[in-house]
Amino acid sequence: MTQDPSTLADAPPQPFRCDILTLFPALFAGVRTEGLLGKAIEDGLVELNLHNWRDWTHDRHHVVDDAPFGGGPGMVIKPDAVVACLQDVRKDAPTGMRTVLLSPAGERFDQARAQAWAETPGLVLLCGRYEGFDARVEAFVDDVISIGDFVLNGGEVAAMVILEAVSRLRPGVLGNAASLEQESHGDNLLEYPHFTRPREFHGMTVPEVLLGGNHAEIARWRLRQSLLRTSRRRPELLAGRTIAKKDAVWLAEALAAGVPITPQIPESEGVSIAVTDGYDAAAAVTTSSSGPSRGSTGDPDNFEQNQGALPSSAPEER
Ligand SMILES: C[S@@+](CC[C@H](N)C(=O)[O-])C[C@H]1O[C@@H](n2cnc3c(N)ncnc32)[C@H](O)[C@@H]1O
Repeated sequence: MTQDPSTLADAPPQPFRCDILTLFPALFAGVRTEGLLGKAIEDGLVELNLHNWRDWTHDRHHVVDDAPFGGGPGMVIKPDAVVACLQDVRKDAPTGMRTVLLSPAGERFDQARAQAWAETPGLVLLCGRYEGFDARVEAFVDDVISIGDFVLNGGEVAAMVILEAVSRLRPGVLGNAASLEQESHGDNLLEYPHFTRPREFHGMTVPEVLLGGNHAEIARWRLRQSLLRTSRRRPELLAGRTIAKKDAVWLAEALAAGVPITPQIPESEGVSIAVTDGYDAAAAVTTSSSGPSRGSTGDPDNFEQNQGALPSSAPEER
């Protein structure tokens, strides 16, 4: 029997289903209840199911790991219980739900993948521990994914990252869907800088263009700030992106002039955050009544070289 299309239109959207296989389900307690994700779960937009595959073991001590064949440090997650758990979880999984094994040795997660996965009915995420899973577990998954070039103790934080990045792209999860439109990484660009009240903070003022109400000028300023930020912080993102000629000229001039991408605290404030070659949190923040002490790296964002200049003091807008 075919369903009456009018009842289909009224049907609430299916929740985005996320099944997480983890040895530490308690780590997700806050995720379930807090913030936008907690609200999305409460509102039925996201369904979060946690499964501890230790419950799928049959031995007396519920062992989930064992020593690696061939020797070497650490323990490896045995494949039997985790795959049994996965097969049970997938029994009623909707078609198109992807199974993802989390590993620092996986392909990189990024915004494009988050967008693609937001268009699926859901994800099964496998969180490793110890030295990771027995390699044969990979035969049962669609993707092996890393959230970045660093190593975590376990996959739970990576699963939270993915769940949050994907679910906020689902309809209804963000209060204001328009905020998705210009976010960083949407168009191979980092987002432009934001300013809010007060108009002046530690001597730094809001760029004039944002106060004028000219929406075309504001849009152009924001695009150029995005281009400048991206070419300084993540130049590789710009490769292959087409930039309008007048914006490319502006960008080349701004880069050549060393226009900073961060607002600069004026000398008169007597407060400085030193820029150092290596990161030293204790040494990074200094206050002074007689005047600032500033580090120098030769970097275009260095306070010493670019004092007082806000992004709005870029080469003339044309
Ligand atoms: C200590 S790590 C294992 C690292 C593994 N021996 C290696 O060098 O590739 C334990 C678990 O944390 C998770 N994990 C660690 N770093 C991760 C990353 N960058 N992305 C995704 N998952 C990660 C994985 O699930 C992994 O199985």
